Amino acid sequence: MDLALAVLEKYLQTKNPAALVKFWQLYPKPVPSWHLTMMNDQPRNQFYEKEIISKCEGKIILDVGCGSGLLTQYALEAGAKHVYSIEQDPVLQTCFKHAFKKEIEEGRVTLIAKPSQELIQDDLKAGAPEVVIHEIFGFALFNEGVIETFTDLFKRNLIHPSMEFIPQKFSLWAALHNQPFESKIKDPKYSDQFWFLEDISHYGIPMNQTNDQTQLGVDVSSGIELHSIDLKSLSDKIEAENELTATTAGNMLRVWFKLIGEHSTLSTDLKENPGNHWGNNKYFLKFEAGKVLIKSAYKDRRFLPYVR
Ligand SMILES: C[S@@+](CC[C@H](N)C(=O)[O-])C[C@H]1O[C@@H](n2cnc3c(N)ncnc32)[C@H](O)[C@@H]1O
Repeated sequence: MDLALAVLEKYLQTKNPAALVKFWQLYPKPVPSWHLTMMNDQPRNQFYEKEIISKCEGKIILDVGCGSGLLTQYALEAGAKHVYSIEQDPVLQTCFKHAFKKEIEEGRVTLIAKPSQELIQDDLKAGAPEVVIHEIFGFALFNEGVIETFTDLFKRNLIHPSMEFIPQKFSLWAALHNQPFESKIKDPKYSDQFWFLEDISHYGIPMNQTNDQTQLGVDVSSGIELHSIDLKSLSDKIEAENELTATTAGNMLRVWFKLIGEHSTLSTDLKENPGNHWGNNKYFLKFEAGKVLIKSAYKDRRFLPYVR
């Protein structure tokens, strides 16, 4: 592992392709593929740039899950006094060290190369953070552990509600949706044996994730906010019941999320923000026309909707 990272560092310094090939041989888990689509998601980047530029001048910043460092770069451009950047992925740590070599040497940036769960007060030698910037949102909002990460940092007094958070609020949205989908086993040889699959699938099975709006079916209700999270009053008990009205019967719940900033809101709804790298999730969820009660609960990085 150390050797692989040393070879990667060599490649970054020399741009010698042989070193890159050697790195791949030594370490078959290079930069995660989503990192590139994420770095090229312009609406995402513009949302963060605007929020960070307006709040970070002269401030001490904590960048939780800094990756290769785009948000750290925005904070530096804003004139931040100091940036602590935490990252758990060893390849991204190496990329970050290379990209911010000068700022690290000058003492403007500290890379904290470990998971935030291992952060201790002693790591924050340049003073307490004043602004916490973060983008640890997975394609299903919660699946990168944003709730657990912040619950832990608050519990251990490493961050406080008096600090600024970018973003401080985010929310999960859904609409009843219909898209032709074969849920029955059509082969008569097996339909008796597997008769139960469609019945038990009524309870919010995650179907798929898509970034392509042309792969969506039709919404048969308006969108509704299922859960609204405020980091300053974080609770790990996230449950809700919401009623939607379906204009026709349907078979899915389409789910997206919003990051709420002071200057703008970033929505991952593919109908508003086509091609965004998070995309939308569809859950198999059969319902009839009329009122549909959606219950949903959060547990272990997963959001679980079901119909009653
Ligand atoms: C979605 S990426 C965002 C990267 C970067 N902040 C950006 O916006 O371009 C999230 C990064 O956070 C890291 N991460 C997630 N949870 C973390 C944690 N608890 N501690 C440290 N790093 C974490 C992941 O390894 C990943 O590189």
